Amino acid sequence: MTQSGIQDAYGTTWKASCPSNIAFLKYWGKRDPALQWPANDSLSMTLTNAKTITSARRRAGGFDSFQFQDKLIDSVTSPQNKVFLHLNRLRNELNLEGHLHIHSENTFPSDCGIASSASGFAALTMAGIAALLETNDWNELALRGASKESIAHWARLGSGSAGRSCFGGFVQWTAGENPTSQKIAPLYPASHWDLCDVIVILDDDKKSMSSSEAHLAAWGSPLFKTRLAGIPERLRRMRAAIEIRDVEKLGVELEAECLEMHSVAMTGTPAVCYLKPETTEFTTWVREQRSLGWLPAWFTIDAGPNVHLICERQNQDLVVDAINKKWRERRTKIMIDRIGEGPMIQRGE
Ligand code: PMV
Repeated sequence: MTQSGIQDAYGTTWKASCPSNIAFLKYWGKRDPALQWPANDSLSMTLTNAKTITSARRRAGGFDSFQFQDKLIDSVTSPQNKVFLHLNRLRNELNLEGHLHIHSENTFPSDCGIASSASGFAALTMAGIAALLETNDWNELALRGASKESIAHWARLGSGSAGRSCFGGFVQWTAGENPTSQKIAPLYPASHWDLCDVIVILDDDKKSMSSSEAHLAAWGSPLFKTRLAGIPERLRRMRAAIEIRDVEKLGVELEAECLEMHSVAMTGTPAVCYLKPETTEFTTWVREQRSLGWLPAWFTIDAGPNVHLICERQNQDLVVDAINKKWRERRTKIMIDRIGEGPMIQRGE
C-alpha cells in the first residue's frame, strides 16, 4: 500500500512500551494450541532495556495497517499477518469496531537473535486496546472490560510468552486445570531483587524451527512426560530461591531447567537442536570459571543458540568484563539488561 495508511490516521496516538522477559521456568509445549493452553506453568523475569514500542492510532479506511522499520503492510493485501489477526481478535473480544494504524519498533536490533514476540504482542495488545477504548487509565480500561489480567490473556493468544510481559518483576503463568482457568500474575515486584541478564549473542541466524512448531513437536519426545511430572517441584524450588534471594539456588535450577527444555526439543518429533557449538563452548566456560569461585553467574537459554547469564547487580561489571576479555576475539555481542517494572501506556498527540 501507499503512504495513505498513515495519512488516513487521525486522533490521539496511544503508545505502549513493553519489555521482553526471560523465562526462568520455560513454557514448552501446548495442551491446546487453539486456546493457547500451555503444557506447564512458567515463570519469568521482566526486563528493562529490551523493549517494543508500539503506537496505535485510529484510521479512516476500512482496514488496518502496520509499519515496522521501512515496511508498511495492510490487512487487505496481508490478511493472514499475525498483527492483523490479533487486531481482529481484540475487536471481537471487546465487541468494538474501528480500524487502526500500528507503528512498532524495538529498542534492540531485530537481527541479533533475540526474539521479540513477547514484547511485540504485549505492546500491540496494549496499544491496540488503548486506541480502541481511547484511554490509558488502568481503572477505566478495567471498567470497560480490559483489566490488566484480561489484557495479559489476550497478549498470550498472540504469543504465549507475551502474557508474562504485561507485568513487571517476577511473573508466573499458571496453566490451570482447563484452558479457561489459566492465570498470569506477578509474584514479586522488580524491587524485590535486583537481578541482571547479560545477554550474549553468539549467533544471529534465524531459528531453524519456530517456537510454535516446537511446542507441538515436544509431545513426541520420550522425555516430555518426565519433564512435565517434575515441573511442580522445579517451580517450588525456583520460587523458594527467589523468595529468599538465593542466587546460587536459583542458578542451579535455571541451568538444569533450560538444558531439560533443550533435551526435549532435541528428542521431539520432529527434533530440533537450537544450540550451536559456540553455545556449548560458552556454557562450559561459564561452569568452569564459576567452579573456580570467581564468576557468580548462571545461564539460561531460550529457543535459540544465545545465552542469558543471570547474576546479581553488584556482579554485573565483573561478568561483563570477563566475557569481553575471553570472547572479544569472536566479536560476540553483549546486551546488558536487568529486571524491570513492566509496561507503560502513554497518551500522545
Ligand atoms: O511465546 P512463544 O510461543 O514464542 O514461546 C516461548 C518459548 C520460550 O521462550 C523458549 C520459553 C518461554 O517461556 O518464554
